[in-house]
Amino acid sequence: MSTDTSPWFTHHVGTPTDRIDGVAKVTGAAKYAAEFPAQDLLYGCVVNSTIAKGWIEALDTAKARAVPGVVEVFTHENRPHIAWFDRSYSDQDAPPGSPFRALRDGEIRYSGQPIALVVAQDFETARYAASLVEARYSQGEHATDLVQQREDAFRPKRKKSGFESPPSRGDADAALAQAAVKHRGEYRIAIEHHNPMEMHAATVIWEGGGKITVHDKTQGVINTHDYVCGVFGFAKDDVRVESPYVGGAFGSGLRPQYQLFLAVLAAKALQRSVRVVLSREQMFTFGYRPDALQTIELGAQREGTLTAIKHDCVQNTSQFENYSETIVNWSGLLYACPNVALDHRLAALDLYTPIDMRAPGAATGVNAFEAAIDELAYELQLDPLEFRLKNYAEIDQNEDKPFSSKALRECYEQGAAAFGWSQRSFAPRSMRDGRELVGWGMASGVWEAMRTKAQARVTLSSEGRLEVATASADIGTGTYTILAQIAAEAFGLPLDAVTVKIGDSSLPQAPLEGGSRTATTVGSAVQAACEALKKIVLDQARSIGNSPLGKPRASSVTFERGDVVLNRDARKRLPLRDIVLSSGKPTLAAQASAAPSRTANRWASYTHSAVFVEVKVDEELGQVRVTRIVSAIAAGRILNPKTARSQIIGGVVFGLGMALTEESQLDHRLGRFMNHNYAEYHIPVNADVPQIHVIFVDEKDEHISPLGAKGLGEIGIVGTAAAISNAVFHATGRRVRELPITLDKLL
Ligand code: MOS
Repeated sequence: MSTDTSPWFTHHVGTPTDRIDGVAKVTGAAKYAAEFPAQDLLYGCVVNSTIAKGWIEALDTAKARAVPGVVEVFTHENRPHIAWFDRSYSDQDAPPGSPFRALRDGEIRYSGQPIALVVAQDFETARYAASLVEARYSQGEHATDLVQQREDAFRPKRKKSGFESPPSRGDADAALAQAAVKHRGEYRIAIEHHNPMEMHAATVIWEGGGKITVHDKTQGVINTHDYVCGVFGFAKDDVRVESPYVGGAFGSGLRPQYQLFLAVLAAKALQRSVRVVLSREQMFTFGYRPDALQTIELGAQREGTLTAIKHDCVQNTSQFENYSETIVNWSGLLYACPNVALDHRLAALDLYTPIDMRAPGAATGVNAFEAAIDELAYELQLDPLEFRLKNYAEIDQNEDKPFSSKALRECYEQGAAAFGWSQRSFAPRSMRDGRELVGWGMASGVWEAMRTKAQARVTLSSEGRLEVATASADIGTGTYTILAQIAAEAFGLPLDAVTVKIGDSSLPQAPLEGGSRTATTVGSAVQAACEALKKIVLDQARSIGNSPLGKPRASSVTFERGDVVLNRDARKRLPLRDIVLSSGKPTLAAQASAAPSRTANRWASYTHSAVFVEVKVDEELGQVRVTRIVSAIAAGRILNPKTARSQIIGGVVFGLGMALTEESQLDHRLGRFMNHNYAEYHIPVNADVPQIHVIFVDEKDEHISPLGAKGLGEIGIVGTAAAISNAVFHATGRRVRELPITLDKLL
């Protein structure tokens, strides 16, 4: 609820505001990819491989075809022609390599690979018939254990690989040799799957005349659109992608997935509308957060000055693409330190390619590094917060650049005050509540403040309503709402005078919603389009004879409450409606493109956090309960404190999952993820989640965008798992360097 509910309240940016799509979502009016109706719709069900590597010797589809209601069974043997070259399968988030193509040939590259699509009149028939497809394989030897493949790790050749060696400086080995106090630890964070509530789905509507409308679960309709055109040879205008709502994705929708490929393939071949929905189990048959083996070495002077940092990481990729995350670079950025050696390598496994997930890279690297920093603080007998403040980085030493803004110190101060950190006793196992050990831990977080290029169109109607249109997405983040706030504020209108259209490939181009970039990137485009439209409105106003405004200049008027008002005499005003009507056109519109300024790269732009956690650990059962979390965030200007707070709460819960519960378990004998359901893959539920106190500290950033926003969401995850594991150490004296911290690791 807005703090001011009067109909003419127009100071929207910065005001806690309800989601404008909230009612549609809770009443079921919001339609997701698998919910769009179509005439004579067919349903596809995917058959997946049961081996991890080898060849299909024979695929028997006769029993499936014999089921009444089955229309077709697509396999690599009978599939229609698809594009030949790898580049046709590339997408905005594709790593270098040869993108996976379902039904390409008989080769099996990973367990769970789609090997057939059964298409039937209804879903139940398709699913039953899919269970009758029989595959005979010749099995190869697979490798899915990163520990065993570690020796074969490699650095992709730099050219065209998209792989950059992380930045090092000084002489870390020499500094370590001389350091008075040292720490060395090996850290590992479990493979995780995104597990959004909405499973991946595509409904492809055959419009006739070779045209299709695609409803896909995606974080970017343009990405889906271009992929479908590239792979299947559709003309650009013959494909329209509409995905107005996304039921969570957390990165899983950044790349086109096989439900899309198979639904379009079937629709095109059959010239019918086709829907393919993945099951929860099948949600474990494509991208995931990669496995990563990390070694961290730190050195400091006796009084606590950090002198050396070494951070090595080997992460897994697939056999067909070199997926690489930024895992170690953060370690050269967070603290002042003259000697830093960072190394990052990949090792190929017989799994699907990993895909960006929930603060990819930082969630892995910073959570390990911040645990190591905590360990060194104990070696130094220094309070972990004091140690961090002592080594505070005033500039980005990775790139030798000033920060566009950095209010991490304020995060530490305000977070610590709200948490009561000064009441902490230093020694592990020194705090207790009955039979439970109490632990207080903290950590820092950092994430890139990303901004790229986007376009938006704003249209003012003769009823005085504004429409914002851009091909962006709202993956649950609040995009609809902040775009409406920005436009309403620019025109001095109430929020309900604004309609926001997104998730449609026919709208002005916007990038993938990912990397917490959308508020800054698309918000800036909407702001620019509004400024352009205001100029058009004023030009029109100047052409009106006998106008109370005379011939107004931009600087002499204000857009206020649906009118243009003369600054020096507020009685002189002209309704926006009348200005539009005077044009003789039904609407006035402007489109704009916005990109980071050419000087933006003079500054390093990051969001920061300080996370404070209390845990209680049952000494006999090893059970960890997180009882309090304070997350203090510096992310520039906060456009909507209400949806921003929801974003951080979501991120903190993901951090809690990473620390204590979430883990995709591979059975290396089969090369397969075994716990592919919500019963065995443990996402924190309400009973696991304590009170989460979110603080947004003031941070002015004049460089990232005129909006001043740096974007957020992912920053809520980074640091949270480290703060929890640091709290578990404080409670128990036990350091668990392999997340999640399950009971067995504490007993
Ligand atoms: Mo996010 S992992 O950039 O969707």
